[in-house]
Amino acid sequence: MTNLAKRNVGRESEGRGAGLRAVRRTAAALLCAGALTGAFALTARAQPSRTVADGVYTAGQAARGAEVYRAQCVTCHGEALEGSVGPPLAGDGFLSVWSALPVVELVDKIHNTMPLQATAPLSRQESIDLTAYILEGGGFPAGAAELSDAALADIALPTVATASAAGGGDLSVVPIANLAQLMRAIAFPASNIVFNVQIKDPADDVPPPTAARSFDFVEWGATVYPGWEAIDLAALAIAESAPLFLVPGRRCENGRPVPVDRADWREYTEAVVEAGRVAYRASQSRSVDAVIEATDQLNEACASCHEVYRDVGAEGRGVGADRCRQEP
Ligand code: HEC
Ligand code: HEC
Repeated sequence: MTNLAKRNVGRESEGRGAGLRAVRRTAAALLCAGALTGAFALTARAQPSRTVADGVYTAGQAARGAEVYRAQCVTCHGEALEGSVGPPLAGDGFLSVWSALPVVELVDKIHNTMPLQATAPLSRQESIDLTAYILEGGGFPAGAAELSDAALADIALPTVATASAAGGGDLSVVPIANLAQLMRAIAFPASNIVFNVQIKDPADDVPPPTAARSFDFVEWGATVYPGWEAIDLAALAIAESAPLFLVPGRRCENGRPVPVDRADWREYTEAVVEAGRVAYRASQSRSVDAVIEATDQLNEACASCHEVYRDVGAEGRGVGADRCRQEP
């Protein structure tokens, strides 16, 4: 169990000593959490100096990419990158997913996760050539030099507004859970799946056969999207569900309304969305170290809000008349 888990359920760790690195890192994050309260210094990235509009690949390279594409990608992404089983790899919807990110992230995504359920992984060069082909298909110009591994981090994809920033649907959500239940139902289990990367490499997570035991939906379900995909999905659950903290009308366990109108409450929530997004990107990189790095940010995001709105007044699970005060 992680430190966060310990704090949340107020129980002693059962695995003391088992995950030294985990305990050390999480403890460090908890120490920092106080200092960071209210300060949202989110991931500082070195800014790429060029964009894909600057002629960053060659026509010959895109042609090599096209060959691999026809052999390995076309069935799922379409003849003209328009998508079929998989999403489109050109157009505004696609670009908004990758808005302003360095090209290396797109190459990594292809290299680490495509073709879906592949038996033989793509080489780095193939992944870069495929990216050149995707850039060509997106209307970005070819140039004099090939896209090279060394340059990838220094080239940005264009900035494109996301669908929700550009309008989005108007869905009214009616709260059913109190805030504590919502946290226990989604944020807590999803975070613990991500924190588990501190002590277990998802690549080694081979689910045991269930046949020998009596059937159990939960055990069976864990075998359907195991390993790294489970980490991807947990990170997405965190990012996508955090805005539910902002739904008006929800109450905390003590009956106080969730302080959704407070600016800091919104900022703490946005920090969790961002931490979930960072954890997802880290998981997509298939790097244990990157996810461990991301867990620090996630832990801070949860703890910063808890310090102000949850862990006040009383200790322990489900108690605290001072929780969710409008004016902490
Ligand atoms: C069996 C179907 C399948 C094949 C084959 C396949 N993909 Fe995909 N691809 C998907 C699905 C489904 C997704 C969405 C899920 C995800 O992002 O992992 C996806 C997502 C992507 C994305 C991210 C798109 C986005 O909107 O963020 C890229 C880039 C991509 N694929 C490139 C490729 C390339 C390049 C190949 C060939 C080497 C390939 N895919 C082969 C099914 C496939
Ligand atoms: C915007 C503020 C905020 C953020 C962000 C936040 N929480 Fe909470 N959390 C609370 C409050 C307030 C409570 C107490 C709710 C209540 O009493 O109804 C709570 C309660 C909980 C509980 C239940 C504790 C108990 O009483 O048993 C868990 C578990 C939890 N949070 C986990 C998380 C995790 C994990 C994250 C990060 C992914 C997170 N929370 C992010 C404010 C927040």
